[in-house]
Parts: sequence; C-alpha cells; structure tokens
Amino acid sequence: MLIEGQDLSVSIGGRRVLESETISCKPGMMTALVGPSGCGKTTLLHCLGLLLPVDQGRILIDGDDVTKYSTVARRHFWRDHAAFILQDYGIMDDESIAFNITMGVSLLGKRVTGNQARLVEVLEQTGLQGRENELASHLSGGEKQRLALARAIYKDASILFIDEPTASLDAANRKKVIELFSDFAMRGRTVIVATHDSEMINACGVRHEVGS
Ligand SMILES: Nc1ncnc2c1ncn2[C@@H]1O[C@H](COP(=O)(O)OP(=O)(O)OP(=O)(O)O)[C@@H](O)[C@H]1O
Ligand SMILES: [Mg+2]
Repeated sequence: MLIEGQDLSVSIGGRRVLESETISCKPGMMTALVGPSGCGKTTLLHCLGLLLPVDQGRILIDGDDVTKYSTVARRHFWRDHAAFILQDYGIMDDESIAFNITMGVSLLGKRVTGNQARLVEVLEQTGLQGRENELASHLSGGEKQRLALARAIYKDASILFIDEPTASLDAANRKKVIELFSDFAMRGRTVIVATHDSEMINACGVRHEVGS
C-alpha cells in the first residue's frame, strides 16, 4: 500500500513538533525516517500509522484521504493492514508468546490457536523457537522487539510501522532483523522505520530527513 503524508503539522502541548512534513512511502520499499533525537521521527511514524491525529495536512492510503477516518475505520486499518513494532512494544505481558504472535481471537468462547506450522516458522525466523508457551513477561527488551516482529511476519501485514527496531539488539540479531524487514519489503510490503542505526538506514531504499 502507498502511504503518503502531505504537509503534515502537529503540535503537542502548544509546541510545534512537525511542520509541513511531506512524505511518500511506497510499497516494496523500506523508508527510513531519520534525523536527530527529538526531530519528530516517532511522531511522524505515529501520524502515518493513524495512531496520532494531525493538526494540518492529509494522510492518504492508496490515494484515499484517511485523515478523518472514524475510530472504527482506523481499527479496521490496524486489524486488516498494519503491524506495529514500537518502542513500547504493544506486547501483552500476561499472555503466552504464541498468543502474542497469533493473536488468536476467541471463537464461541474458545481460543483459536492459529496456524501452528506458520507459528513454528516465525518463531525460528525471530530466534524464539521452543518458547511459544512461555509468558511474554519473561522476555528481555530485545526479545520483546523480536516478538513484535514475529507477530508482524505471522500477520503478513501490508504496512509495517517500526520504531527503533535495532536499539536493544546485538550485532547478530540486528543483522537478522534487518534482513527480515528487507524480505518484507521485497514481497511488496510497505516498511516505514524510524531509526538512528546506520546499518538499518543503509538497508532502506528511501531516506527521509524529518524536520528539514
Ligand atoms: N506526548 C508528548 N508530550 C509532549 N511532548 C511530546 C510528546 N510526544 C513527543 N513530544 C515532543 O515532540 C518532539 C518530537 O518527539 P519524537 O518522539 O517524535 O522525536 P524522535 O525524533 O522520535 O526522537 P528520538 O530519536 O529521541 O526517538 C520532542 O521534542 C518531544 O519532546
Ligand atoms: Mg523516537
């Protein structure tokens, strides 16, 4: 999906955080949001993911203006098309790793366990194999980020919104995670990543300086 921000401005607590930001994030591409700490990368990512309203400007998805989407329409977008790997994870600590990945909803009061073969595959891809029955609260910060990635891969979302994915990873896991994001983009998905990591930035086809 093509996601565009046109002339976006956002103020938080009376302070202008984004000023006339225009960006185009194409499917099949990784777009890096870059710039110094506090320049608004996370804010822009949240606006494009419809998590944060904008004061001015428009957000378009495949050419449709979604700026004024209702809560219900936004929920459908998140459920059907988006996956988020954010700094505060969005992980349900009291649930198992497997549940966090498959997000099996209850059907007639019963939990749906999802596609087991696919679950095993994404656990392996993210280095969490054999841990599906542990509670998510047992995981370290870096492992939780990989869990969020496992969920995104399992879901095969059209758009991936990612905030500082490699910040708490060692070199080996960083390389692996960057490869997984690249695979995502190569399969025609839209990947948007706010990052300071030069390795991550180099892997992105487009580099957008926020606030310049
Ligand atoms: N909820 C909030 N309340 C007040 N100020 C906020 C809030 N969210 C963001 N800001 C301010 O907006 C500016 C941009 O923040 P943002 O988190 O988007 O920056 P960033 O580029 O992601 O920084 P970093 O590289 O440190 O993650 C900062 O000055 C921040 O203090
Ligand atoms: Mg940030």
